[in-house]
Amino acid sequence: MKERTYIMLKPNAIKRRLVGEVIKRIEQKGFEITNMKMFTLTDELVKEHYAHIADKPFFPEVKDFMTSGPVVGMIVEGDNVVEGMRILMGPTKWLEAQPGTIRGDFAISNGENIIHGSDSVENAEIEIKRFFGKDA
Ligand code: TYD
Ligand code: MG
Repeated sequence: MKERTYIMLKPNAIKRRLVGEVIKRIEQKGFEITNMKMFTLTDELVKEHYAHIADKPFFPEVKDFMTSGPVVGMIVEGDNVVEGMRILMGPTKWLEAQPGTIRGDFAISNGENIIHGSDSVENAEIEIKRFFGKDA
């Protein structure tokens, strides 16, 4: 089923010049990037976006990391793109992320894991509206 998801390249992806590499993987898989922008997250946006981990001991580190430089936010469309992008990204824990996945190839940290992707169709729509506005 045709879906859309919210993808965000985290500040270290930009610092490490991995934006092109990650975009290449999304495109060569066959998904379509329909909107994209570079911007810097505020503490408030990080708290909203990561509300489900706000009480975890690692949250202050996540907040500092996510506000440490610009991110690239994207709307990506395609059949089953929510799950498809999660597979392309690899799991959260870097040691579980297989080579060939984005996290498996580029991350040795659970926190600084290069890329965000929505975890459900419902959350994708919430995140798209959070970062691209209510009309997106
Ligand atoms: P989560 O939504 O669980 O993971 P994912 O990004 O795979 O959907 O967590 C959000 C972010 O919080 C995650 O990308 C990195 C950070 N995080 C940690 O630093 N340590 C952890 O143990 C977890 C679960 C997340
Ligand atoms: Mg998540």
